[in-house]
Amino acid sequence: MFASNNVFSYFSTVLRLLSFSKVPADLVYFVTSDCNCNCKNCLFQESLNKTDRRSLQLSLEEVDKIAKRYGKNLVKLSLSGGEPFLRSDILEILGSFVTHTNVKIIDIPTNGSRPNVIADKVKCFVTTYQNVILEIQLSVDGTREIHEKIRGFPGLFELTLQTYQELDAVRKDHRNLKIKMNTLYQPDNIENIRELYELMLKNNCIFDRMQIVFPHGAHIQEETLDILNYDKFYELSQSILKSYPIYNKKDFHSLLFRAIKIERDNVLKKTIKNKNMGKICKAGKRNMVLDDIGTVYPCEPIWEPIGNIRDYGYSMEKICNSEAFKKFKQSKWGNQKCNCTWGNIALDEVVHNPKYYPKILFNLIKLLVNK
Ligand SMILES: C[S@@+](CC[C@H](N)C(=O)[O-])C[C@H]1O[C@@H](n2cnc3c(N)ncnc32)[C@H](O)[C@@H]1O
Ligand code: SF4
Ligand code: SF4
Repeated sequence: MFASNNVFSYFSTVLRLLSFSKVPADLVYFVTSDCNCNCKNCLFQESLNKTDRRSLQLSLEEVDKIAKRYGKNLVKLSLSGGEPFLRSDILEILGSFVTHTNVKIIDIPTNGSRPNVIADKVKCFVTTYQNVILEIQLSVDGTREIHEKIRGFPGLFELTLQTYQELDAVRKDHRNLKIKMNTLYQPDNIENIRELYELMLKNNCIFDRMQIVFPHGAHIQEETLDILNYDKFYELSQSILKSYPIYNKKDFHSLLFRAIKIERDNVLKKTIKNKNMGKICKAGKRNMVLDDIGTVYPCEPIWEPIGNIRDYGYSMEKICNSEAFKKFKQSKWGNQKCNCTWGNIALDEVVHNPKYYPKILFNLIKLLVNK
């Protein structure tokens, strides 16, 4: 089966690379800092829509060099931004990574504001690159009024539903396309998320995966964390992961990721309670962040740069060998050295540490039995 082969191949490659790779197997690339929304808790808000930044944006030729030099060590690419579908050369960017690296899974979050553009580009990608899983993640933060208030974009809810419908039509003929929904848990939507999920079902929106995420970033204050209350988040997140309808019951890829995320919540719960993410942090080793102007960061919550890839001949390996990265690791990785609420660190811990595999298997069996 296509999806199972691909996901097994992804995990076996990640595990194989772990032992000797000098560059992280997962890259998060913020392709643009342009955005047509104005979301209240956006993790990239400090960089959005700055005119002086646009002229510094990595060109397609530069992206091609980065992909070439990254080579076969890259297996998962996540785009971010800004709004990725505002970048007109998005297909060419993806093409570069598919051609030069070992990328098996590409994840693109979107605010869903451009249904036709998104559907056209996605259809073209999944038709051209049938061996790569493309996950499109629609960001929806609440029912109509709450979503549009949080995102500062009147009419966005309807556009997002339209985007879902157009993508759903593409998904029917392309098994390498997955449609996900991502909801950022925040003070304005805590009491609205269950209603949002019911509304999506009423609109016949059945996603391959749905998740709520706990916010991260320097702007998330202690008081906000108290309001957000991780126990409440945990209960909601677990009930969604365990009971939301499964779009395709033979889709092992999506079921496995659900099982992993069920375990991820447990790890995140422990680290948030103990205020000790540093204990499991391997930011920059398993996952690296590259922004639109070439700056490289080991993690999103603190945006502490370790250099610009232009100054390292477009080589991620050279940045990973730099003194700046060594200093970063020494000061952040380890018991009580640093703290944040970034779910990716907990997720990487679960994926890369075999001690969690029996639990993931148990979660997977439960999902299969209950479906
Ligand atoms: C930064 S956005 C970029 C892509 C696109 N503009 C969008 O909104 O989907 C990527 C994802 O991060 C989520 N996000 C935004 N701020 C966040 C934060 N502080 N913590 C965690 N996730 C956040 C968004 O809701 C979205 O699902
Ligand atoms: S749409 Fe995405 S990038 Fe734009 S402000 Fe919202 S979360 Fe940030
Ligand atoms: S623990 Fe520190 S270094 Fe690690 S991801 Fe969180 S903020 Fe970044």
